[in-house]
Amino acid sequence: MTKSFYITTPIYYVNASPHIGHAYTTIVADVLARYHRMIGEKTFFVTGTDEHGDKVAEAAQKAGITAQQYADKISAQFRSLCPELSISNDYFIRTTDANHVETVRYILQKVYDAGDIYFGSYGGYYCFGCERFLTEKEMVDKKCPEHSREPRYIEEKNYFFKMSKYQDWLINHIKKNPDFIRPERYKNEVLAFLRDPLEDLCISRPKSRLKWGISLPFDENYVTYVWFDALINYVTALGYPNGQNFKTFWPVAEHLIAKDILKPHGIYWPTMLKAAGIEPYRHLNVHGYWNIDQSKMSKSLGNIVRPLDLKDKYGLDAFRYFLLREMVFGLDSNFSEEAFVGRLNSDLANDLGNLVSRAVTMAVKYCDGKVPKIGGKEKTDVLQEATLKTVAEVEAGFTDMSLHKALIAIWDFINITNKYIVENEPWALGKDPANKDKLSAIMHNLLSALCSIAILLLPFVPQTAKKILRQIGIYEAEKLNLNSIRKNNALKVGSTLTRCESLFPRIVQEKRNNSSKKKSPVSNLKPEINYEEFSRVDLRVAKILAVETIPRSDKLLKLKIDIGEERIIVAGIAKDYTPEELIGRQVLVVANLKPVKLMGVESYGMLLATDTDTDKGLTILTFDREAKTGGNVR
Ligand code: ME8
Repeated sequence: MTKSFYITTPIYYVNASPHIGHAYTTIVADVLARYHRMIGEKTFFVTGTDEHGDKVAEAAQKAGITAQQYADKISAQFRSLCPELSISNDYFIRTTDANHVETVRYILQKVYDAGDIYFGSYGGYYCFGCERFLTEKEMVDKKCPEHSREPRYIEEKNYFFKMSKYQDWLINHIKKNPDFIRPERYKNEVLAFLRDPLEDLCISRPKSRLKWGISLPFDENYVTYVWFDALINYVTALGYPNGQNFKTFWPVAEHLIAKDILKPHGIYWPTMLKAAGIEPYRHLNVHGYWNIDQSKMSKSLGNIVRPLDLKDKYGLDAFRYFLLREMVFGLDSNFSEEAFVGRLNSDLANDLGNLVSRAVTMAVKYCDGKVPKIGGKEKTDVLQEATLKTVAEVEAGFTDMSLHKALIAIWDFINITNKYIVENEPWALGKDPANKDKLSAIMHNLLSALCSIAILLLPFVPQTAKKILRQIGIYEAEKLNLNSIRKNNALKVGSTLTRCESLFPRIVQEKRNNSSKKKSPVSNLKPEINYEEFSRVDLRVAKILAVETIPRSDKLLKLKIDIGEERIIVAGIAKDYTPEELIGRQVLVVANLKPVKLMGVESYGMLLATDTDTDKGLTILTFDREAKTGGNVR
């Protein structure tokens, strides 16, 4: 019977645009889907967007549009990212889709009818970033460690799912199926969490507080909690309860997530499934986090790397390769543009690019532009042995989710093939016609190795793999698989060879100066803050009434300002402005900074200034027409 494979990514929140973290998970899922299709498995690959809940409602309100309009806009960005990144998903789900709304209500009613949902009252610390209540244990210094902000205490009447009832079942299930959650560190994390009594899960929000969600089927005054809604996408996408896809694919479900959402997937979801009478998924595969230039990246904290900028600058396959090769599945990894360019030059331009270009150029030259036959009885051992070993290592990499190891194995093979060229010196053999048979055997072996390398690369860098195959006369990549390598029957003697332009041109590393930083897709902005945080800063239009120098300071000036009331502030602009230049001007000040004493003078606010373009000093922030003195700056 044909084997099946079902792979999912998280469905991404539509409160901000896609970044490199989203791209990574989706690309890993794509590589898995392409590989399983290639080895002949019936495959279904789902990604999509998570559109309800506080975060999206809040983002829409800030943008001044309805939640649905906002969700449509950002969901479209995630959807269009798929073709841009060569993602081969079979289905793109949105939690606002009518079939999903129906499935969520169906499951809620089922669990409610079974007596596993009750009405009660709860008070707890809610993190809007995580969209869930945190336990005291999960908080660090009273803050959510994931979002570095204090959760809000919320108390209200709500519906609860009896999650606690399934705690023992879940512990047993995890113990009986040791790779249910993998790698092991994340299984241990979930088991550690389950050592404490599990609380019931609050699964509703009163419409008086949040309207943007799926109405509970048994109480229209409430909407469904966003996680209870979102997790169900994995079965909606298969047409649960009656769809054929559900029957085919649910028993082999593989979820792919990062560590940030381990708890909802490792605890809420299996217990929800159990309560709804659905078998648990097969595996939860958890990867680490991408950090940027050694610091944490997330939508909530800012410092975002945009996948399309990198793709446009360096090419899609270079981007896919770097992400897949650099991250050890399960561990955190660091992204820097320098490391990216380094790998592109060494692994792609040097090792792979040069191999393809040398092999095809020589074959064109020595074999009349056609794939030669293996004349004579030349030995092919070295490359054949390496080929079979590589196939086995790649298979192992896919079995235990270590795609980086599969790539390392392919690159070892590339290097063995490069060495084969050096050791056999086709250019020397080509000088004497007596070597014709030997030369054609060597060139055949070389092209055959290239063919195997390209087939192995198909799931990872499909465009590049196809470009290599076309150069050696193979145009139907979809018909190839690991057996084509084992049987060595993809390369056809007599096919026409076609040289193409270089696969990966070398990139000259930009010097890290100010101008290259400006062009970099890695923004060096400070972490994002929300409007509430911003609005705590009291920015005012101030008029400078008087200016005095401060004895013994060549930097500071004492300014008397009017911001609707008179104030003294101290500003470090004595080297850039004379007192006369300043008097009467309107400037921008932060009016609610805690007072500080500078060179003995108390300062009740801060004047805003920035560097000049020439880096020769400071320029103060002023207004391009008369503003209202004391007026608020928004
Ligand atoms: O959590 N490194 O959506 P989300 C690696 N809607 N991967 C990262 C990452 C990083 N720095 N940042 C994000 C949600 N990701 C929910 C999911 S599923 C039923 C609901 C990736 O938009 C990674 O896959 O916050 C992570 O799990 C996911 O984006 C979180 O996406």
